[in-house]
Amino acid sequence: MHYLVTGGAGYIGSHICLRLTELGHGVTVLDDFSSGHRWAVTGHEVIEADLRDLEQLRRLLSGCDFDGVFHFAAKSLVGESGKKPVYYFQNNVSGTANLLEVALEQGWRDCVFSSTAAVYGNPTTETIAETQPLKPINVYGQTKRVMEELLSAVHAQGNCNAACLRYFNAAGAAPEQGLGEWHEPETHLIPNILRRAAGDDLALTIFGDDYATPDGTCIRDYIHVLDLADAHIKAMELLHQQGGFYRLNLGNGRGYSVREVLGACEQAVGVPIAHTVGARRPGDPARLVADATQAGEVLDWQPIRDLQAIVESAWAWEQQRRAMAQV
Ligand code: UFG
Repeated sequence: MHYLVTGGAGYIGSHICLRLTELGHGVTVLDDFSSGHRWAVTGHEVIEADLRDLEQLRRLLSGCDFDGVFHFAAKSLVGESGKKPVYYFQNNVSGTANLLEVALEQGWRDCVFSSTAAVYGNPTTETIAETQPLKPINVYGQTKRVMEELLSAVHAQGNCNAACLRYFNAAGAAPEQGLGEWHEPETHLIPNILRRAAGDDLALTIFGDDYATPDGTCIRDYIHVLDLADAHIKAMELLHQQGGFYRLNLGNGRGYSVREVLGACEQAVGVPIAHTVGARRPGDPARLVADATQAGEVLDWQPIRDLQAIVESAWAWEQQRRAMAQV
């Protein structure tokens, strides 16, 4: 098979490209490189384009014969999304509409779409199943909900098959293959802890220890990016085999507090990691844990890497990242 991967130079997209090539598939990456990395797409065919430019997309993609599209290209910073809502809707929603327009013109029917647990907002149950109401509390989550609705409407017309995969906290890396997470600025917990541990001059802060959780810090469901990659590939295979439209949670189904994550990182690094406790970060729910039962059944998929494997791979990657940053 040969797939188009939009946002293939980004953190999650690049790991999907890696797995696709390991399985012998062809990959064409479409990316605007606004936040993705050129080193992350070495060896793949690359089209540099902005999804907001429909005519450019038509020009670059017409005549291409893809067996399906993995769609990751989107802006994804929760904080920034609140400050730039028009930019987020243009990038994420208009960009997806343009991509779908070209996909329909070219006859690419199957789309695996990168969605997020942010579509749920504040959950009302211990674990979050797909039946939870969609009440996103930030603009980023709103754009992803609308993108899902767009795909659903196109599917209802009989024109595409889609799997919307709602990730919980993607983490970890593939250091043996030279891939991992690299955001600037970095806002995520595990890379922030590990950058601090490696000697970065950053103030590592636990955002709030007065939540209604056993140790007072927020609980999240961390899932290894390579487990996510396997779920994406199974979802594409499902679309090829039986078509349809799916919304599926991807998580481990097990929550860890910020303090527990810090402890796992200290174990991986082998020394205590200096930190302080600060105020809560606005918009952080106390607990977000997936009920991923449906994904397990529908995709015949189970995550196989636990929190320790996640932080160990992220720590190995952090050494490589630092060496690359110094060149
Ligand atoms: N945290 C800290 N200190 C830090 C960074 C994070 O205490 O320096 C805490 C946060 O407050 C939160 C937890 O660690 O409680 C995890 O925070 P992340 O920023 O790593 O991840 P989020 O849960 O905020 O966000 C993730 C994805 C988003 C997605 C969201 C869905 O990164 O893209 O899940 O709920 F929108």
